[in-house]
Amino acid sequence: MSSNIGIIGHPIGHTKSPVFQQAGLDELGIDETFEAWDVKPEELEAKVATFRAKGFLAGCVTLPHKQAVIPIVDELTDAAEAVGAVNWIFNRDGKLVGHNTDGTGFLRGLKEKAGFDPKGVDAVVFGAGGASRAIVYALKTAGVARLTIANRTVETAQALASEFSEGRFKPTAIGMSRDELSNYVPYATLLVNTTSLGMAGGPAELATPVTADMISADAMGYDAVYAPPMTKFLTEVEEAGGTSEGGMTMLVFQGIEGFEMATGKTAPVDTMFSAIEKALKSD
Ligand code: ATR
Repeated sequence: MSSNIGIIGHPIGHTKSPVFQQAGLDELGIDETFEAWDVKPEELEAKVATFRAKGFLAGCVTLPHKQAVIPIVDELTDAAEAVGAVNWIFNRDGKLVGHNTDGTGFLRGLKEKAGFDPKGVDAVVFGAGGASRAIVYALKTAGVARLTIANRTVETAQALASEFSEGRFKPTAIGMSRDELSNYVPYATLLVNTTSLGMAGGPAELATPVTADMISADAMGYDAVYAPPMTKFLTEVEEAGGTSEGGMTMLVFQGIEGFEMATGKTAPVDTMFSAIEKALKSD
């Protein structure tokens, strides 16, 4: 069996990608092993150069290399350019193309798992870091009507809002105070948390960007945080009567998008989700 596909990161021990990617490859009878390569920053350029080899399909890229690979690849797709990060590198006859599927992965999670189409809705995104960039880009391409970016450091939200402003799409940037949030959150039907609030093992595991009293009963709440599966933020959304979806769908669908572009085949989505759900249960 050959290994012309895999993931690079550092550290890489925690990654769940090989579990669901391998399940997809096996289901389609593709004779490849999806590898996890621990690549230190100083080894990055040499490792990525090996992706040019004949027969090599694609490399998924995770922390801390998502920006560092930009000058190493030969070409960037519009998505990678707009998000400013690469999470997949495809080998197209020796030419390396850097792409970003975090945004489309988020959209597929929303549409295919939660049954929610963001087109024409009012949305609030909490946070203005790397995950937020991918999600703001995705919501812009999906055609949300209005977008508010709320961040602890309002200047970062302002920079993100102006970067993505185009034509009639003009995100509003606000801080995270209750006062500011109360002008936007109750009127939004899509709320997305991209901050680290609620993350397992972090300093703010029991925190949430917003509480139930402010959330509309018809809101869809999406949390980019995937561990724990039910964050405090999602609990608040449900308490308000809304619907919730955790970040696992974004994680798996960014991989599924990459899998499909690497293999040229439609991914066995259910098989890949079952594989990761099983792996998480046995953790
Ligand atoms: P990621 O790549 O996961 O998006 P990041 O780029 O480090 O991670 O972004 C972290 C986000 O969580 C930022 O929006 C950050 O807010 P600041 O820009 O003000 O730093 C937000 N964040 C982290 N800790 C937070 C906290 N305790 N309260 C509110 N927001 C927080």
